[in-house]
Amino acid sequence: MNTLQGKNILLGITGSIAAYKGADLTRRLREQGANVRVVMTRSATGFITPLTLQALSGQPVHTELMDLDAEAAMGHIELSRWADAIAIAPASADFIARQTAGRADDLLTAICLACQSRIVVAPAMNQHMWANPATQDNVSVLKDRGIQIVGPDQGSQACGDTGPGRMADPDRIVVSIGQLFESGLLSGKQILVSAGPTREPLDPVRYISNRSSGKMGFAIAEAAIEAGAAVTLVTGPVHLETPARVDRIRVETASQMYKVVLDKAASCDIFISAAAVADYRPGLNAVSKIKKGPDELQIKLVRTNDILSAVATLASAPFTVGFAAETDNLLDYARGKMQRKNLDMIVANQVGPSAGFDRDDNELDILWSNGHVHINKNSKKSLARDLVKIISGRIHADDTTENTG
Ligand code: PMT
Repeated sequence: MNTLQGKNILLGITGSIAAYKGADLTRRLREQGANVRVVMTRSATGFITPLTLQALSGQPVHTELMDLDAEAAMGHIELSRWADAIAIAPASADFIARQTAGRADDLLTAICLACQSRIVVAPAMNQHMWANPATQDNVSVLKDRGIQIVGPDQGSQACGDTGPGRMADPDRIVVSIGQLFESGLLSGKQILVSAGPTREPLDPVRYISNRSSGKMGFAIAEAAIEAGAAVTLVTGPVHLETPARVDRIRVETASQMYKVVLDKAASCDIFISAAAVADYRPGLNAVSKIKKGPDELQIKLVRTNDILSAVATLASAPFTVGFAAETDNLLDYARGKMQRKNLDMIVANQVGPSAGFDRDDNELDILWSNGHVHINKNSKKSLARDLVKIISGRIHADDTTENTG
């Protein structure tokens, strides 16, 4: 399975003779469908030119922390947010030491310090530098922090030595990066996710809708794929690309979403309802465009069917996760919805002019029968991965309870 399709990979290249392999690594990552941005340390530019890597990645290569153009285009914070994963290959002994110390005195160390995503480090250095206790201590600290170390391999080195210190083969590095996106937490599970707004027609020209962009639901679908699930994504009208390996069904109205979701729900293990489904629709869908008339136009709205409640009360209901979008009393309203709709879990998020809808970040309170986790503001991609982990934990806890009776 191509787990790198559409993934944003930031490739950091440091000052090692193996820097030239960065060209091959960039090419292989792009062959796997990844979007690649290259960041080089100044010493790396002595081994391979930024122009070569710009040509292979199709993106500007970043080298300086205070590169005014880069800052305007995409500074170190933006680059760290953009990356779904960071690979430092080759990673010199000096870079590893600076990363371990938490330095941020060049662009690449600043990005590594700011990033929330996973990091793979592929060391490359002379065998004695690799064996030095200082390097070994640094590498073990990075491992303790959850950074994945790939290699180094044994073999002949540019300095004429033979021994450990050669950068791992680019193919192996690409596989290691891909494995970051395969947690396996939901392997074998069928997941149904709804995302985006619905549109409730008023007449052939006008409709009532809301500000949902679909980003939260799409991020959840991607995170579920990374966790090994099979994912069906039912989407209202949004302007987002279908994530790789996701089966997408497009709908427009709440009624259409109701039909599709209820058709699929009984055969799925988990239903996550992130869609902003209209609670009401115009009582009349006029056949012709409503002409302007009196100063005030009264429109009668009628309730739409509650998809979430219908799924949660199915005889063979899936593990049902609802969302609560509230402007006030977030936790109380969310708990009330979870109980009223008989949900297994509810994800509460504050919404308003600068929160929730149509943004790349969010903040979540995840509630279930006897638990509550608050997750601070972060990218929707990162929050979606956290949500998948929590859902996986609950499902496996439920399985254990069922098995032990
Ligand atoms: O799409 P984004 O721009 O990324 O924004 C994300 C989001 C804010 C839309 C998302 O995080 C979110 O909160 N989605 C739910 C929005 C919503 O409709 O919340 P609600 O509290 O009004 O509805 C409660 C739950 O009932 C939701 O799970 C909703 O999908 C569901 N529902 C609502 C009405 C209806 N007729 N049927 C339903 O199933």
